[in-house]
Amino acid sequence: MTGRRTAARLDGIPPTIFSTMSVLAVRTGAVNLGQGFPDVDGPPEVIAAAVRALESGANQYTPGIGLPVLRQAIARHQQRHYGLELDPDTQVVVTTGCTEAIAGALLGLVNPGDEVVVLEPYYDSYVAMIQMAGGVRRPVTLRAPDFRLDVDELRAAVTHRTKYVLLNSPHNPTGAVLTRAELTAVAEMAIERDLVVITDEVYEHLTFAGHDHLPIATLPGMAERTLTLSSAGKSYSFTGWKVGWATGPAELVGAVLAAKQWLTFTSGAPLQPAVAAALDEHPAFPSSLAAELEEKRDLLCAGLDKVGLPGRPPSGTYFATSDISHLGWPDAMAFCLALPERAGVVAIPTQPFYDDPDAGRQLVRWAFCKERAVIEEALSRLGTADLAYR
Ligand SMILES: Cc1ncc(COP(=O)(O)O)c(C=O)c1O
Repeated sequence: MTGRRTAARLDGIPPTIFSTMSVLAVRTGAVNLGQGFPDVDGPPEVIAAAVRALESGANQYTPGIGLPVLRQAIARHQQRHYGLELDPDTQVVVTTGCTEAIAGALLGLVNPGDEVVVLEPYYDSYVAMIQMAGGVRRPVTLRAPDFRLDVDELRAAVTHRTKYVLLNSPHNPTGAVLTRAELTAVAEMAIERDLVVITDEVYEHLTFAGHDHLPIATLPGMAERTLTLSSAGKSYSFTGWKVGWATGPAELVGAVLAAKQWLTFTSGAPLQPAVAAALDEHPAFPSSLAAELEEKRDLLCAGLDKVGLPGRPPSGTYFATSDISHLGWPDAMAFCLALPERAGVVAIPTQPFYDDPDAGRQLVRWAFCKERAVIEEALSRLGTADLAYR
C-alpha cells in the first residue's frame, strides 16, 4: 500500500480527545474525571424492559425511522415537558444516539460552502460533521469565566452564506445554560436572516437550581425552523445505549432520515421499547438525577477550589471547568497529559474545542457524573499533588 489513505474530508480532524484521555486513564490507573459517563446505571425497571424486549424477539431490524412506540413516547415527552406538539409519524426520527442525529442533520441539510454558526467551545463531533458535509463553521465564543453568549458576536458571525445556527444548551463543556434573553436573540436573528436552528439538547434535564432549560423551538416563530436533537443517554444514565432522536418540522426531520438511512439504517431494536418505557413510565427520573448531580457539582467545585483549581459552578450538564493559568503550564493539554502521572487523575483540556487558540488554552473540564467516593478520591489526590509547571 503506498501513499496516504485517509480521505481529505478528514484532514485536520484528530482522534477525539475523549478516547485519548480514557486510554490514558486505563493505562495509568488514574481516576477518570474525563469522559462524561456516569458510573451508576439508570432505572433497573428500564433495564428489565430491555431484557424483556431481547427475550421476546425484538431482535431484528426496526423501521428506519424508529419503532412507533418510541416515536410516540418521544412526541409525548416533548408535549409533557415543553408543550410542543409533534406528529410521531413525520416529525420524529430515532437515531443511534444524539451523535447520529448530529451526523444525520449536518449531512442531510448542509451543502458544500454553507456556513454553520456554532458555539465554541464546541462538542467535537460538530466540527467533524460540518467538515465532512463540506460546510464552513463560523464559531461564536462563549468566554470564560461566565461563558455567556455575546449577541453582537453572534450577529457578526452571520453572512449571506450562513444557513444554520448549531446550538447546544445546556452546553458541553462549559455547563452554561442559555437564558431566555440569549435564546430570544438567536431566534430573532434566525427569523430575520431566514436561518434554520439545529439545537443539541442532550443535557435538557440536567440543570441546577435557578437555571431552567428552555427549548428554542418553544419561542414564537421557531417551531417551524428548529431541528431539536437529544437522546436517552444523559437523561437516563444509559450513555452506552445510544438511542437518540431528532424532532421538528417534517422537512427537517426527513433530511435527517434521508442521511441516517445510509449511516445505520436502523438503531438498537430491543433498546427502543425500553427507552419508550423510560420516557413514559419514569418521567421524573431525570430531575432526581439532576438533583443528585447538583450535590456532586457542589462537592467537586468546593474541592477544586480548595486544591487551588477554582472554577465557576456550572448551571447544568455533567461538567465543571477550571482556569489553570496561575499554575504556569504552556496550555491545558500539557497539564492534562501530565496529570495522570502527577496526581493520578484524568481531566479533559478544552482547547481542542476552540478555533480561537487563546480562548480555551488554560481551561480544564472535570466530570462530576461519578460516585461521591470517586470524586472524593480524585480531590484527595489533587490535594496532595504538586500541580505547578516545572
Ligand atoms: C453536547 C453533546 N452532544 C451529543 C452527545 C452525544 O450523545 P449520544 O451519546 O446520545 O450520542 C454528547 C455526549 O457527550 C454531548 O455532550
